[in-house]
Amino acid sequence: MGWSEWARTVEVEPSIYAADFSRLGEQLGSLAEAGAKVFHFDAGDGHFIPEITIGPIVAASIAPLVHAWGATLDCHLMVERPERHFEAVARAGGDSVTFHVEAVEDHLGAIAHARSFGLGVGLALNPGTAVEEAVKAAEGADLVLCMSIHPGYSGQPYMPEATERIRALREALPPDVRVQVDGGINGSTIRDACAAGADLLVAGSAVFWTNDPAAAYRDLAAAVAEPARG
Ligand code: DX5
Ligand code: ZN
Repeated sequence: MGWSEWARTVEVEPSIYAADFSRLGEQLGSLAEAGAKVFHFDAGDGHFIPEITIGPIVAASIAPLVHAWGATLDCHLMVERPERHFEAVARAGGDSVTFHVEAVEDHLGAIAHARSFGLGVGLALNPGTAVEEAVKAAEGADLVLCMSIHPGYSGQPYMPEATERIRALREALPPDVRVQVDGGINGSTIRDACAAGADLLVAGSAVFWTNDPAAAYRDLAAAVAEPARG
């Protein structure tokens, strides 16, 4: 499934950041088998967020597998000056980049730059950023990512105030722009996020920090199951 196809359904996106990197291919394969269509790839530069995470070199090793499974790699760039990395992400096989509203001045220019590499494009907003700012900046984007934690690492609790922000985003954005939520999504918070209008749900620890990530994924997917949107 390419970027434009998968964004028409409600998707649970396993966040690779929470995976066991000594068994990454095996874990992702079992999730693809369980039905995962989109994998969330968290790149952190140690500046925009304190943590240094994974980058294009890891994406290049898993993208061929992800694509062979008919899935896509959705790259969340928690980095300063994200536009410097679009080409490397595209070359590594990333299908989309989501950069932070807070990290860019010229949002339209950055979106156009990402598009020039054939990438899907999303804008992410941190919990402290006004929803209106993201709606304004997201013109021409495919999705807006509402962070329900302060970005940095997996395993943090869902911030309940994110639910109203998701609702506000859903109401303010054109229907073809997806609302993604990232942070603390689990069996219970997923329902709140979905009910508020999110249709791309990133889940890290709720999937990978279990003794059966595939089963955990299936449970989350069942919690949000709804017919593909036309
Ligand atoms: C954190 C990342 C998230 C995180 C999600 O900075 O952007 O994608 O890995 O992990 P959970 O679902 O455990 O909050
Ligand atoms: Zn993320």
